Parts: sequence; structure tokens; C-alpha cells
Amino acid sequence: MESHVYVGDVAAHEGKEALFRGWLYGKRSSGKLHFIQLRDGTGIIQCVVSKKDVPEAAFLAAEHAPQEASLEVRGTVAKDPRSPIGFEVHVKDLRVLQGQPGYPIQPKEHGVGFLQEQRHLWLRSARQRAILAVRHTLIKTIRDYYDERGFTLVDSPILTPAACEGTSTLFEVPYFDLGKAFLTQSGQLYGEAAAMAVGKAYVFGPTFRAEKSKTRRHLTEFWMVEPEVAYLDLEGNMDLAEDFLVTIVGRVLEKHEKDLTGVLERDLTLLRKVEKPFPRITYTEAIETLHKAGNPTQWGDDFGGDEETILCKQFDRPVMVHRYPASLKAFYFKKDPQDPKLALGVDVLAPEGFGEIIGGGQREDDYDTLLRAIDEHQLPREAFSWYLDLRKFGSVPHSGFGLGVERTVGWICGLPHVRETIPFPRMMERLTP
Ligand code: 4AD
Ligand code: MG
Repeated sequence: MESHVYVGDVAAHEGKEALFRGWLYGKRSSGKLHFIQLRDGTGIIQCVVSKKDVPEAAFLAAEHAPQEASLEVRGTVAKDPRSPIGFEVHVKDLRVLQGQPGYPIQPKEHGVGFLQEQRHLWLRSARQRAILAVRHTLIKTIRDYYDERGFTLVDSPILTPAACEGTSTLFEVPYFDLGKAFLTQSGQLYGEAAAMAVGKAYVFGPTFRAEKSKTRRHLTEFWMVEPEVAYLDLEGNMDLAEDFLVTIVGRVLEKHEKDLTGVLERDLTLLRKVEKPFPRITYTEAIETLHKAGNPTQWGDDFGGDEETILCKQFDRPVMVHRYPASLKAFYFKKDPQDPKLALGVDVLAPEGFGEIIGGGQREDDYDTLLRAIDEHQLPREAFSWYLDLRKFGSVPHSGFGLGVERTVGWICGLPHVRETIPFPRMMERLTP
């Protein structure tokens, strides 16, 4: 195919003839003129089709081309101060590849249920394209962050023999003669094995939770990045989480200011304040804060969405809540030597009501204590024998955390629900498209 120019690169072609390929985003007509908005994924450009400048067939094609028809446009790139991108195309020829009337998504308000059903088409809207672009940059920035700091990416399995985060939210899969497998809830346990091999590891992949929660923060399939570091304690883990968030948020803002403010209408005031140090409060202090705000949560209760919202609204930047009651946390957490009722865990809550984006902590590194925890959580010892081996052969203090990609995209883009943060969301009541 003849090479074409992307709208995003149009500035380099000012005054020249160029071929554009894309889809018809919108159209306005007035007698001898058609104004076609052509989108190609890198931007939207106005193409002016004037009856006197194009072959008759092209003028008719422009007249009949429906919304989202695929088209090729050849014309001269001209500066235009009224255009949001500064340029338009004076068309010389135009060809419709395919298109038919009846595109389901019209330029009007649609209900969210309808849009979700049309997700394969909804992705073409300017807003969804902006979110996809931010998600892409976030993922790349996360990779860069760890790659630049000597971490090794280690892929953990998706089919696993046992629970990592508690047995209540496992998806089961039949597995040949071995019986059942489960879709992974977290790659952490494998990340720990990897950290003992490479020192600093990170796992990055999809994770699954059969969570019966229909909230704006829950998906059944989501992506998580999980750094895991040998010879790191809880304080060091919090330092890492803080530096990581400051760096990735800063880089995404640098690259996507236009998408965020222009397309998504995100107020960047508080995102620009994501700087060190983040406030660090204990779970016990968090309970006091909740009481002052009139929330009745008692010491020992877990925080739900409401509690997280109250807590994170007290601060203008992410807040780290550490040392939760051990009874609330998974079996692998190390207990606080100062007070064994507490787990050396930390959650990072994003401001503006977005809530938990990171969960992690220091791992139990003592063999006997870990074995007792496995028994107390009524987990099968056999399934964890390999994990216990890590405490037999050169056990060291180590820590890590998991950051949910979708909740982080939601926070950065200012979206009320995580369903728009992943191309094809999976939720309790949604498996299509
Ligand atoms: O707090 P979680 O459950 O922690 C773990 O899975 C640890 N094993 C991670 C580790 O230490 N390596 O989950 C971590 C993060 C949450 O803070 C949240 O951002 C995201 O994963 N998350 C979800 N995102 C969307 N939908 C869900 N159902 C989620 N559950 C957790
Ligand atoms: Mg958590």
C-alpha cells in the first residue's frame, strides 16, 4: 500500500499534498461543500471537500459516506488557526472503502449499559481513545521505572494450584487428571521466589478475583504490577511505593496533559501535588480519623469503599496506611515484632476519593511462623511446600506490593468507575463483548 500521513504528524506536511487514511468521525454539509472530520487514531483533522476541486464521484462519495465509514483522503495540508490541531486538508480526491448507515453510537448521550454492550465500537470515541493512550503510557512507564532500577521482570503463572489472597475469590478451572486449577489472584508468591533468585523482581500480568462486588472499584480481571525485593523491610517498601508513584504519575502527566485536560476534562491540581513525602499513618490512627469524621468502624474491622473515601479525602496526596490488624490480612504477612496483633502491611490510598491503589507489605520470613499461619488460615500445607522452601534455604527479610493498573488509570484520568480503564472489562455481570 502507498504510505500515508498520520494526523498526529500533519505539521511536517504543511503546504504539501498528503494521503490520509481513517474513519469518518463527523460531517457537516452546505451545498457545494462537505466538512469531514477524519480520525485515524492519532488525531482528528477536518477535510474540506469542495465540489469544484474534486471529481464528481468523490463529491458524491463524501455526500453519502455515513458515520464511521472507512476512507482515504488525498489533499493539501493547510494551516488553519481555527482548527484545534492547527491544520486542515483541502481535499483533491476521496474514496470510501466501506461503510453503512446505522452506526449505533450517535453524537448524543447514551446510557452506560448500552455503551458497554457496544464496547468494541465505543473504543473509537475521543474519550475512550484518550483513556487507552493514558493506560498505554502508564504501563510503559511502570516497566521503565523498574527496568531502570535493576529489577528483573519475572512472569508468574496464571493457572495456579492454590490461593494467594484467601480462598473466597478464586475462579476454578478443570485441570486434566490433576483436578482443579485456579486463576491467579496475584503473582506475589512466585515473585518472592524470583526475588531470592534475582534480588529485585517484578511480576506484571493479569490477575483474577471472583469477587461478588458490584462496586466502581472492582473488576473480576485486572492487571497488577508487583515488585518484590530481597533485604527490604516495611519502611523501605513504603519508600519504594512512594518514589514509584511520584515517578509514574509525573511522567504520565508530562506526556498526556492534552488528553487529560482537553479530552477528559481532568482537573490536574491535585495530581500535580503527588510529591514526596506521602503521609504515613497507622491503621489505629486511621480508625481515630474515621471516628472524628463520624464513621462507626471499630478497631479490627476492615475498611470498605466508604472508609477509604473518607480517609483519602483528608489528604491532598496519596496516604499510606500501615500496620493493619493481622486478622484482616493474608497468611503471608510478617507480624509486627512490637505488637504481633499487627501485620507489617501497607495500603496506599489515592486522594479525591479514589481509594486503595496499592496493597503490600513485609513477608513472614520465619519457617515455623509461616507454617503456623498456613494452618491457621486452613490452607493446604502441600500446596505451599515450595513456598516454605524459600524460608528453609537462605531466608531473608523481604517485601513488595501490588499496584492495580485499572484503579491507577481511573485515578489519573478522574473516572468514576474502573469499567472504562480497561479495553474490555470483565465484571460480575459482564463477560461481553
Ligand atoms: O491488595 P491486594 O489484594 O494485594 C495483593 O494481591 C498482594 N498479593 C500484592 C503484593 O503484595 N504483591 O491487591 C493489590 C491491588 C489493590 O490495591 C488494587 O489496586 C488492585 O490490586 N485490585 C483490584 N483492582 C481492580 N479490581 C479488583 N477486584 C481488585 N482487587 C485488587
Ligand atoms: Mg488490598
